[in-house]
Amino acid sequence: MTSESSRITGLRAWLETRLRLSEGLKLAEKKEVPIHKHSVWYYMGGIALMLLLVQFASGILLMVYYIPGIESAHACILKINSQVDFGWFFRSLHSWGANFLILVLFAHLFSCYFMKAYRKPREITWISGLLLLGISMAFGFTGYLLPWDDVSFFATKIGLDIASKMPVIGEHLASLLRGGDAIGQATLSRFFMIHVAALPVLLLALLGGHLLLVQVHGMSEPESFKKLETEKKSYEKFFPNFLLKDVLVWLLALNALAALVTLSPWGIGPEADPFGPAPLGIKPEWYFLAEFQFLKLVPAKLGPLEGELAGIAFMLLFALGLVAAPFYDKGDSKLKSRIATIYGVLLLLGMIIFTVWGAFS
Ligand code: HEM
Repeated sequence: MTSESSRITGLRAWLETRLRLSEGLKLAEKKEVPIHKHSVWYYMGGIALMLLLVQFASGILLMVYYIPGIESAHACILKINSQVDFGWFFRSLHSWGANFLILVLFAHLFSCYFMKAYRKPREITWISGLLLLGISMAFGFTGYLLPWDDVSFFATKIGLDIASKMPVIGEHLASLLRGGDAIGQATLSRFFMIHVAALPVLLLALLGGHLLLVQVHGMSEPESFKKLETEKKSYEKFFPNFLLKDVLVWLLALNALAALVTLSPWGIGPEADPFGPAPLGIKPEWYFLAEFQFLKLVPAKLGPLEGELAGIAFMLLFALGLVAAPFYDKGDSKLKSRIATIYGVLLLLGMIIFTVWGAFS
């Protein structure tokens, strides 16, 4: 044995005694991924994980130059965009990455939904996933204000106005987030703190639980696969086979993202002027557009109720179907399974139609 390889063996034994790596490896080796025509959707969670790492890394780099003050924020972003080496790249990566992440999360959510992956024993995996999506959207909302340009300022104003119409807690929540009656320094400080401290802590804690549960329960199998005879079912090992493919998909996704980031760098508008007029046709980010467009259609008064309040209450109730799905469709009734699928199709179609409508109106 050469001295080099004996040193490596020694290091491995040292780590093994302390970290018990072979236990983790045994667990990974036991895990198998079913092979069927919907297997491609198993990559979505992994892509989301990779994009999250990109968000953390690029976000930390942006924090080196960003100062969360209404006098400094916009100037910092201009400096990052034009003077800091590769600043434009990492800022664009962070902004495009956030949009990419939310898109992938929706794909992950609906693929899990239609594969009925929310059923026993994965109810908590599912609920933790819904919370992770909520947190990711909150990242998007709070991050949007940080450049302090006119579009981000007025889109946040609209967002907070809508949030204030939420039943019971709306007004308190909006005022807590704003830090008063108007958007100003207090709002920027709060959004910054939520974006770089509160949400990351919440997200990491929940994500730890989500990934642990995925390891504990293994990959779910769609009904059509479960019904197959044992000899017709095929699986592949998670480690190393599926993981290697995972890494390949990550590289492809990362390349697509890098191409977008370079060919279409994220821009910045003029500095926010709280006393100026809102730019024409101001809209929230695409992932809030469906709700925004839906509310535009609701009349000001619906009987005794204020239109916006009724509209928001309706959307909240409709979205609650996602929380209820694992407890309603437990896999013991064909009718319930079909109703759950129809609900999912209606929700997905509704979101797509209202988002596209919102984008072009
Ligand atoms: C930051 C956000 C998230 C990350 C990083 C993440 C990551 C992952 C990963 C790596 C897996 C295993 C591979 C896979 O099935 O794709 C997984 C599985 C799962 N995720 Fe997520 N996820 C996130 C959000 C969500 C959301 C929004 C939902 C839906 C509400 C969800 C529900 C599930 C379920 C039910 C499984 C088990 C799937 C199965 O066993 O087939 N996750 N997640």
